[in-house]
Amino acid sequence: KKVEAWSARFSEPLPELVQRYTASVFFDKRLALVDIEASLAHATMLAECAIICLDDFNDIKRGMTQIRGEIERGEFNWQIALEDVHLNIEARLTTLIGDAGKRLHTGRSRNDQIATDMRLWLRAEIDQIHKLLIEMRRVLIELAEPHVATILPGFTHLQVAQPVTFGHHLLAYVEMLTRDSERLLDCRKRVNALPLGSAALAGTSYPINRQRVAELLGFNQLCANSLDAVSDRDFIIEFVSVASLIMTHLSRLSEELVFWMNPRVAFIDLPDRFCTGSSIMPQKKNPDIPELVRGKTGRVNGNLIALLTIVKGQPLAYNKDNQEDKEPLFDTVDTLVDTLRIFADMVAGIQVKPEAMRAAALQGYATATDLADYLVKRGVPFRDAHEAVAHTVRICVERSCNLTDLTLDELRNILPAHVALIEPDVFSYLTLEGSVASRQHPGGTAPEQVQQALNVARKALYTT
Ligand code: ARG
Repeated sequence: KKVEAWSARFSEPLPELVQRYTASVFFDKRLALVDIEASLAHATMLAECAIICLDDFNDIKRGMTQIRGEIERGEFNWQIALEDVHLNIEARLTTLIGDAGKRLHTGRSRNDQIATDMRLWLRAEIDQIHKLLIEMRRVLIELAEPHVATILPGFTHLQVAQPVTFGHHLLAYVEMLTRDSERLLDCRKRVNALPLGSAALAGTSYPINRQRVAELLGFNQLCANSLDAVSDRDFIIEFVSVASLIMTHLSRLSEELVFWMNPRVAFIDLPDRFCTGSSIMPQKKNPDIPELVRGKTGRVNGNLIALLTIVKGQPLAYNKDNQEDKEPLFDTVDTLVDTLRIFADMVAGIQVKPEAMRAAALQGYATATDLADYLVKRGVPFRDAHEAVAHTVRICVERSCNLTDLTLDELRNILPAHVALIEPDVFSYLTLEGSVASRQHPGGTAPEQVQQALNVARKALYTT
């Protein structure tokens, strides 16, 4: 007999194309194990509430154990005609145990079933991603530790701005990722709620115990409204938007790695195993991994837009549109997990080149602001100091020299109005070390401050 998901109500079979178009088993079979877990919790509750008998429950348990084994061994025969993971498993259960299998769906619909499966599945993935994110932060902190005093140019508009330390620069990314960790944990709270009991949309007339199912599945709250429970996909959108931000932060860092690895810049080198060569140019070593992270961020952002769009036109309650939520979510999780793994490994292998950083910081008049501040601290209004130093920089540009190449007399000549204020100590303010050391406040780039920020960031690894 031909396998069919629907029979009595229908007068003709689904054409093959319609069957393929409506089926989700190709991708939702990934939910099989959580689907079984949720079914067993539902069946346990049905038995405890005397909605099914104990014999039926024991048969269901036995059948599900066998099915789980078949799936794990890759022996399960997934059938397109049975549309999705739920109907495939239920049909197999009935083949194995008979009528008891047909009782499992009492008081339940695929609508609350799929919403429950997605939450169970995503909760476990969030826990894995949370660990990977902590590892990513830890690796960045490790890289920063020996470089709390290593100086490189800080940029604005990608033009040399002021000297900063490399440790400070890396900790900026730790800040971003720590906020991402917070967002992820916050999102998990809303994922961790139980839809089961909502049935198709209106709830069920059986004397069920939703609290018990929640307890069995480790959900710490019940979805409060049955209509919302079966149609809410906020929790997926929220997760993917967190994923999108994580990818965006890694994409920004990737852009820096690509820039830093450019031979003209050469602030770092990446291990060969994260780069590839060119099929034509023998000399090439391309930073493929950071470039791909940048590219894959586009893909995750696309998933976010897809999900928002899938939900935006849907009236209450469940609509089949929601079946389209799976592939963007799965793809987002896969992309993010791979990215975090590979990125942490790559960052741990970064070779830092402090001399190149220092040489770059010495060019571009990175301490011009320090010279202006020097004058301001001796009473010159900031705008006047700014103007005077701009004039000085212009003269240096004409002579192709640095601020520190000027003698005390030359400085005094260039800044005649302030001559009495300029003393030999001015040069210590113009050094890179003097500049970063003077940023002595929480959040500043002075090495002691960076060391403290690093200690705080390390502690946060255990709390966030
Ligand atoms: N495969 C479906 C999905 O992913 C399961 C729910 C089907 N519900 C329904 N009423 N057709 O959303």
